[in-house]
Amino acid sequence: MNINDYIKLVNNKLDEYLQIEYPQNLFKSMKYTVTLPGKRLRPIMCLETCSMFGGEIENALPSACAIEMLHAQTLIHDDLPCMDNDDFRRGKPSNHKVFGEAIATLAGDALLTFAPQIISKFSENLSPTTKIRVLNEYFNYAGARGVIAGQVLDIESEHSSVKNKEEIIHYLHIHKTSDLFQLAMRTGAIIADADDETLGQITEFAKNFGLAFQIADDILDEISTFKQMGKTLGKDKQQGKLTFVSLYGLEEAKCKLSCTLDYCRDIMREQNFNSEIFNEIIDNLSKRVGL
Ligand code: IPE
Ligand code: IPE
Ligand code: MG
Ligand code: MG
Ligand code: MG
Repeated sequence: MNINDYIKLVNNKLDEYLQIEYPQNLFKSMKYTVTLPGKRLRPIMCLETCSMFGGEIENALPSACAIEMLHAQTLIHDDLPCMDNDDFRRGKPSNHKVFGEAIATLAGDALLTFAPQIISKFSENLSPTTKIRVLNEYFNYAGARGVIAGQVLDIESEHSSVKNKEEIIHYLHIHKTSDLFQLAMRTGAIIADADDETLGQITEFAKNFGLAFQIADDILDEISTFKQMGKTLGKDKQQGKLTFVSLYGLEEAKCKLSCTLDYCRDIMREQNFNSEIFNEIIDNLSKRVGL
């Protein structure tokens, strides 16, 4: 499977899982952001991890789609006026610009619980034990000790004059962004029945890939265009966000990104993670920031 095959597979399933029910506005709002053309990196990396460790892609598909729904939930809430106040997402008006703030907030809430129901309802080939393990991963990374913790720190660090910024930025990037990559790859590995050692190695890879991904996002907010990113740029500086660029400057941020991506490549080589897809994703990220 190449990246486009994965994207098609995921898009077809997302469309199938999200039917418009009553109340229609709620389901339309949920489906709107989920089905806008995102890169689908998290589900791709979930499915590719499963395949790399000898599992059946089919068995991981409901979980991969659920993780993309969770990701869409974080984007809907991240764009709200009370958070980053962004009017555009994935090249189109943000969810609250189309459906209003109240429905967008509720659509995010709804996706958070709709997604794990997709896992429990459609993962017919998983044993009850594996299903519970996968659901536990979901609740762990989606919740107060996961992505939400990262988002809280992101908001609290705006215009902040705290001293331990290096420590804080590491914590907030790991949680707001790495956590969903860790969830995606760990889920793929668990479904492929990987042993604990392998699970530890893929977690280390995912954690650092996620960190690299957020450093790249911080850099792109400064140097990219709306056409490329599909969202309003230059907002981190405007909102006084704590980012790798605000803390270290553009060149040093690029340097740190380059080192983190090299570390990801090292893990892949040392652990014999044989994946053309992972190589391609890392190379694409590197090219996008002009490394
Ligand atoms: C956006 O993630 C949020 C960040 C973690 C920076 P993506 O860049 O993966 O967004 P989509 O899914 O392609 O829209
Ligand atoms: C991404 O943070 C993290 C989440 C959405 C959870 P950003 O706020 O930097 O993401 P963008 O730049 O809006 O996509
Ligand atoms: Mg944000
Ligand atoms: Mg944002
Ligand atoms: Mg950003």
